[in-house]
Amino acid sequence: MGASGSGKSTLLGILAGLDTASEGEVFLAGQPLHQLDEDARAGLRASHVGFVFQSFLLLPGLTALENITLPAELAGIRNAKDRGLELLAQVGLSERRDFYPTQLSGGEQQRVAIARAFITQPNILFADEPSANLDEKTGLLVEDLLFDLNQQQGTTLVLVTHKAELAERCQQQYLMQHGQLEQQLPSEPQEQRHVG
Ligand SMILES: Nc1ncnc2c1ncn2[C@@H]1O[C@H](COP(=O)(O)OP(=O)(O)OP(=O)(O)O)[C@@H](O)[C@H]1O
Ligand SMILES: [Mg+2]
Repeated sequence: MGASGSGKSTLLGILAGLDTASEGEVFLAGQPLHQLDEDARAGLRASHVGFVFQSFLLLPGLTALENITLPAELAGIRNAKDRGLELLAQVGLSERRDFYPTQLSGGEQQRVAIARAFITQPNILFADEPSANLDEKTGLLVEDLLFDLNQQQGTTLVLVTHKAELAERCQQQYLMQHGQLEQQLPSEPQEQRHVG
């Protein structure tokens, strides 16, 4: 968590190897990201990292299913299509498989983006305000989906949020202030929340 402009998206981008830091060292899955070139970073991302952006960033020329399967195809994973169909069903969008992003609602696009992020079964998933652009109910569904997939696949979830109740679902919380990260005291365990 942290105020707008404090550096949260910048940090996520650096941790995920999407961006490079001007100084310091970053290790991802035991690899020194700061010593790798763009190709090597892309390879590491493809095999270990999922990213859910605040603005979805689906490719407009690809259908929902194609958007989901693309990272798997790039990573050379076999059965990409079967796996994509499975994930599409898991996010409740089987009916929308051949729809293009402009034909999907914001919440549907975000669910496609989440399915896309999980298709390579990443070790770590970075989510930058994944529910910020969604209405309350759809936002909660998307958040539950992230935590469900996190638990089913054992994926480490690192998320940025402005919502205290979402931060409280995480095992550890950090506060970003002017580019400095501070660990917050662990909060009380939350009751299981149900979304109707
Ligand atoms: N590529 C860049 N080059 C220089 N400065 C940048 C760059 N990207 C972001 N910044 C600056 O770095 C600071 C942190 O930006 P960042 O996007 O990480 O904030 P944030 O904490 O994610 O904010 P928000 O909650 O609004 O998304 C901002 O002051 C921004 O102007
Ligand atoms: Mg941001």
